[in-house]
Amino acid sequence: MAIQKVGLVGCGLMGSGIAQVAAQSGFDVVVREVSPELVDKGLKGIEKNLARLVEKGTLTGEQRDQARARLRGTTRLEDLADRDLIVEAIIEQLPAKIELYGALDKLCGPATIFASNTSSISITEMAAATKRPGRFVGLHFFNPVPVMKLVEVIRTIATEESVFEEMVAFGQRLGKTTVRTSDRTGFIVNRLLVPYLLDAIRALEEGVGSIVDIDNSMKLGCGYPMGPLTLLDFVGLDTTYYIANIMFDEFKERRFAPPALLKRMVLAGWNGRKAGRGFYDYADPQNPKPMKF
Ligand code: 3HC
Repeated sequence: MAIQKVGLVGCGLMGSGIAQVAAQSGFDVVVREVSPELVDKGLKGIEKNLARLVEKGTLTGEQRDQARARLRGTTRLEDLADRDLIVEAIIEQLPAKIELYGALDKLCGPATIFASNTSSISITEMAAATKRPGRFVGLHFFNPVPVMKLVEVIRTIATEESVFEEMVAFGQRLGKTTVRTSDRTGFIVNRLLVPYLLDAIRALEEGVGSIVDIDNSMKLGCGYPMGPLTLLDFVGLDTTYYIANIMFDEFKERRFAPPALLKRMVLAGWNGRKAGRGFYDYADPQNPKPMKF
């Protein structure tokens, strides 16, 4: 069965990005959010992104209109009942995900595939909350979804081979490069990225370099598009803290343990760019200023 109808649960930063890319790639997409305001905010964000692509000449006006026509918003979970594939991108909290999957499992037919965009929660544990563990995978996208070329396709020990291959093909139909990985917390990217980001915070704590010097070192010395502290602000310090704690719980290795400074910043609400403050102050978003600690 080739996927045609896609459902997105969650239309925040990741969900809206995935919905946009799926609609641009020709899929019929329904996005579900919990309130009409959030549906509206998500769809407006997508429209803005599509308009920017038209301005840059990447999309024609006709392609934008076609992509937009393939997208529908809803607050009703029932509107996802006829989907071939449901991609979940809601809050990173296991109880909320388990409740959602339990409800979706009752609503959707047995053929529907479930995919979580989680970055760190066990896919196996979510799959176990349904009667379809064979038709359950992880599809891990990267921020900003329309720009980042990678999708990690994650299988559990229960995922059926044909479902896994179909999800690899789906990632490719979105124009992404797919990598295959298994359900080990952090998968490939965060397994490597999270210790690197945490080490950058430890380097700052230990006075190895200033915020700007640490960022410039990796940007200009290694050709990374962003320095690690800028990337932490971009991903969100709360998100990184959450992922690091889950990885530390799983592996019990110091390299995944969140440094004290990260915890203090999250407690203070300095969660990065979205909060207006993290390692940098974004009062002037075009010209972030390094914070003083
Ligand atoms: N949405 C859509 N397009 C965007 C965008 C967004 N939010 N932000 C930037 N773009 C587009 C721009 O329009 C531009 O397109 P063009 O080349 O066609 O003109 C292109 O991306 C480059 O943008 P800019 O010139 O404005 O700025 P940069 O060259 O600095 O690129 C960046 C911005 C793509 C974000 C780049 O800095 C980058 O790649 N940073 C690293 C991002 C990264 O590592 N993401 C992964 C985070 S980890 C994660 O998501 C996993 C999770 O589990 C933690």
